[in-house]
Parts: sequence; structure tokens; C-alpha cells
Amino acid sequence: MQAMDTTPEALLDRAARSAPARALIADPDGSFARHYNRSSFMFPHGIRAGDGFDVPGVAALAERLPQTDEYVYWSNGPIDVTARWEQGRAEKHSLQDTVRNIAHNNSIVILKHTEQDPVLGPILRAFLSEVVDLSGPRMRDDVVVGEALILLASPNRITSYHIDAECNYLVQLVGDKTLNVFDPSDHSLITHEELERFHDGDYNGAVYKPERQEDAQTYDLRAGHGVHIPTGAPHWVRNGDNVSIALSINYDLRSVDRMSRLYRFNNRVRRFGARPTAPGVSAWRDRVKLAAASRLIRLEPPPGTAATWTPEHRT
Ligand SMILES: [Fe+2]
Repeated sequence: MQAMDTTPEALLDRAARSAPARALIADPDGSFARHYNRSSFMFPHGIRAGDGFDVPGVAALAERLPQTDEYVYWSNGPIDVTARWEQGRAEKHSLQDTVRNIAHNNSIVILKHTEQDPVLGPILRAFLSEVVDLSGPRMRDDVVVGEALILLASPNRITSYHIDAECNYLVQLVGDKTLNVFDPSDHSLITHEELERFHDGDYNGAVYKPERQEDAQTYDLRAGHGVHIPTGAPHWVRNGDNVSIALSINYDLRSVDRMSRLYRFNNRVRRFGARPTAPGVSAWRDRVKLAAASRLIRLEPPPGTAATWTPEHRT
């Protein structure tokens, strides 16, 4: 078999030929609009390893990106389902060594802002747009920015139980994994107090409850398929016995930013013994809290330097 040409010129050429000309997602029954940011579902997609998303292609991308925390993250060594996010952050190997030996070093590499990359960016921006188009105006009017991350992971690697603040689509390109997703609206599983801690800056706010594992929707996620993970839906992952390459397609939403401010406010007042009403229960309480929060809490993280993707607004 002839080896694939992975020079930037060849990859650029292939990206230009393959990017927006074809539909990348199949949604025959309207799942994207129906389940948008509410419940998980699986869908077929058309991004292939041959589009530049194989290990040599990801290694070349890792070289092209700025070598800063804003663009690259990697973690070496064993992780279990209850591990804290910072566990494994002690770097045992360089980024380049981690990528090169990914088949053997029980690691994960996360490459960020990849929709801005000159080689792989065109197809990823097309994917970001297609999700919004399929999901309809409810999503289009809510999205602030979108981002594509590339996840390269070792065989059998575990991503511990967590929640994300973004609206997410996990898209499998190479290898396979078992993905467990829980219902974000079940507050006996993901409690308001856990959400308050998470939105106030504790990335480990969601606590795994082994006795609730059977409540997970479990997906056997293979190359050519993706799964929608709504904002705040707890999830954890176990890779198959193979190297995995996946996309994490993320969107920051205005509605989530509002909810996040309310949870942060509630977390602060709970420390003083209050028992705050959860967001969404009382419109007037929410309005009062948002007004107070804007004076009391520093809300915005310091801006990054990366360029951002925003949806096109059609009239
Ligand atoms: Fe996640």
C-alpha cells in the first residue's frame, strides 16, 4: 500500500478538495433539532482518517500549533473513572514523544482551536456550521463561539467522569470507545450543589456515583459516528483496545453563560448558610440574582489570544 503524503502542501490540497463541498453529517430523522442540548443521541458522519486525521496528520498538527496551554494539553499515565482533572497533568513525556508513542504510553493529547488550522481547519469549520444548520434557529441564536478540539488517546485510556460547560458533539474518527452519558436534567444524579461548585470554578464538581452507573446511556462509539453530549450531562469514556482519534466539537452558549452566573451566585450565598433556589425555577429571582451577580462576582475569564469561530447569521 502506498504511504499517504503528509506534507503540509499535500494535506492543504486534500483539505481544499474535500472541505465544504460534501455533507459531513447524516440526520435523516431530525435528531439534531429535536434533541438539541437536551438529550444525547448518536449520528453518522463523513470525516475520515484519510482527510488528514490519522496519527501522522495529528502529529504534524501538534507541531504547527503554538506550544502553549491555550493550544495543547497532554496527560501521561493511568487514570480511573473517579480521577480529578489535574491528575496525570505531571508531564512524564514531551508532547512530541507522547504523540509518537501514543499506542503504548496510556496518554491523551488534546489539540485546541484546530478549526483555525490552515490544513485541517476548512473541514472542521464546515462541520461546526453543519451542526448549527441542522439544529436550527434555537441553536444559531444561542451560540457565541464554536471550537473544534482533536483528541488523540492511547488504547484503553479512560477519561474520568465529568461535566462540561459547552454544548458538545464527540465525533469518532479512528478507533473506538465506550461512552457513558447521563441525563443532565436528573438532579438526583448531578445535583444543584455539584453544578454550583462546577460553575464557580471547580472542574471536578461532578461526583461519580457508582450506584447510578446503570442509569447511563452507553454508546459503542466507532469511527464514522458521533454522539451529542448536552451541556452539563455527566459522561465518562473508556477507549477500545486501539489508538483513538476523535473530535470534540464545542459551542459556548449564551443560555449556559446566564445559567452559569446564577449557579456561581448561588454557590457564593450558600457559603453564608442560604438555601438558594435553583436557576430556572423563578424568573424574578433569577433577574435579581443576575443584577446582583454582575456587581459582586468577576464573571469573565481573561480573554485568550486565539481567533474564534462564530456562526453565520442568515437573514
Ligand atoms: Fe467532556
